[in-house]
Amino acid sequence: MNNSLRIWHPFTQEALDPPPLRITRADGVYLYTEDGRRLIDAISSWWVNLHGHAHPAIVSAIAKQAASVDHVLLAGFSHEPIEELCRLLREVLPGDLTHVFFSDNGSTAVEVALKMAVQYWKNLGRPGKRAIVALEHAYHGDTVGALSVGADSVFSEPFAAFRFAVHRVPSAYCHLCPAGKVRSSCRIDCADRLADLLDEKHGEIAAVIVEPLLQGAGGMIIHPVEFLERVRELTSAYDVVLIADEVFTGFGRTGRMFACDHAKVVPDLMCLSKGLTGGVLPMGATVCTDEIHRAFVSPDRSRTFFHGHSFTGNPLAAAAAVASLGIFRDEPVFERIEGIARIHRERLAAIASHPAVRDVRSIGSVAAIELRASDAGYLSLLKPRLYQFFLDAGVLLRPLGNILYVLPPYVISSQELHRIYDRISDALGLCADWSKSSP
Ligand SMILES: Cc1ncc(COP(=O)(O)O)c(C=O)c1O
Repeated sequence: MNNSLRIWHPFTQEALDPPPLRITRADGVYLYTEDGRRLIDAISSWWVNLHGHAHPAIVSAIAKQAASVDHVLLAGFSHEPIEELCRLLREVLPGDLTHVFFSDNGSTAVEVALKMAVQYWKNLGRPGKRAIVALEHAYHGDTVGALSVGADSVFSEPFAAFRFAVHRVPSAYCHLCPAGKVRSSCRIDCADRLADLLDEKHGEIAAVIVEPLLQGAGGMIIHPVEFLERVRELTSAYDVVLIADEVFTGFGRTGRMFACDHAKVVPDLMCLSKGLTGGVLPMGATVCTDEIHRAFVSPDRSRTFFHGHSFTGNPLAAAAAVASLGIFRDEPVFERIEGIARIHRERLAAIASHPAVRDVRSIGSVAAIELRASDAGYLSLLKPRLYQFFLDAGVLLRPLGNILYVLPPYVISSQELHRIYDRISDALGLCADWSKSSP
């Protein structure tokens, strides 16, 4: 009998991928390995970390909270950190978003939003409005509902039979424009399909879900602000709920607190997670308008939103989130993000015409370099080559197939960020050879 219990690592193919690295310390932008190496965390540990690892304000807030209320269920109970978090979130959220429903990760924040949108219409006596519209290239998480609204991909293929059907419409992938246009002269024609669909079927459609301005896992695709504006205009005109999945884009990632802020768009439902706690503890949140919340308040119990997770509203996560929002107030966070954005623009411009590069793009603290590859896509063989090359060079970068991206914690120094780009320049020189041979 085998007595060992081994970790099954996420998104990992044990037969091909290198063994996991043991991390013994995380501090600022650095991860320290057991074998004595120091890696720059250039992807903020899966897009979550904002203010650097082990920020003292977050560490002490969690320790203090653990000594008072460690955890309590949120059904029928409340506590100070979750109430303080609501107060602080209200200060930064756009428009009239008035209620927040807590869960424990990004996928659950999305599941909650989808279920709320569908039940909202049912509670209003319009149960026929239950279809969901989602974008091409979308990614909203790995649970089955979130996977259903995500685009067809190698992630979702084994579960094709379990996913519910959605209406799929084009996104604004400008350099591969679905309408064959160029941005300088287009009129956001890529949203015409959404317009036609809503015109024809709005009576059956509950919600449109988007990753506002920046589609992350689908390839770091940056949309023009006008696309989001048009989606908001159309959903408002046709009485359809707009869900903004800000799980990745929230908390400054795109240069504003929320990506929706660039377009002055207020969604009906907004999903938050990742950076909510500064990226230190798991927490999800789904924020909604008063109008949506009101549809669930009734002496008729069947209108209740019957959903909840054991760790919903966990006090330690709430304390971390309060501390993270305090850092936004007390430290020059947006200046740091602008400093990162400036270096992104400068260094991307310098490599844009490299023969290995197909496109470069950036928004706020996020930069992406789309590489030329005969096997473009998530399974591109460039990925393992690049991943190992960067680890050997002391940088954690984890390309999405042939799309290399950089999104560091906001406290990265300009020297550290330039060092990452120097290593990227080294890698570009090797890409042509790598794309021809298997690792
Ligand atoms: C836009 C978006 N939504 C949802 C999720 C899922 O979040 P989680 O991994 O916490 O379930 C992600 C994760 O990358 C994401 O990028």
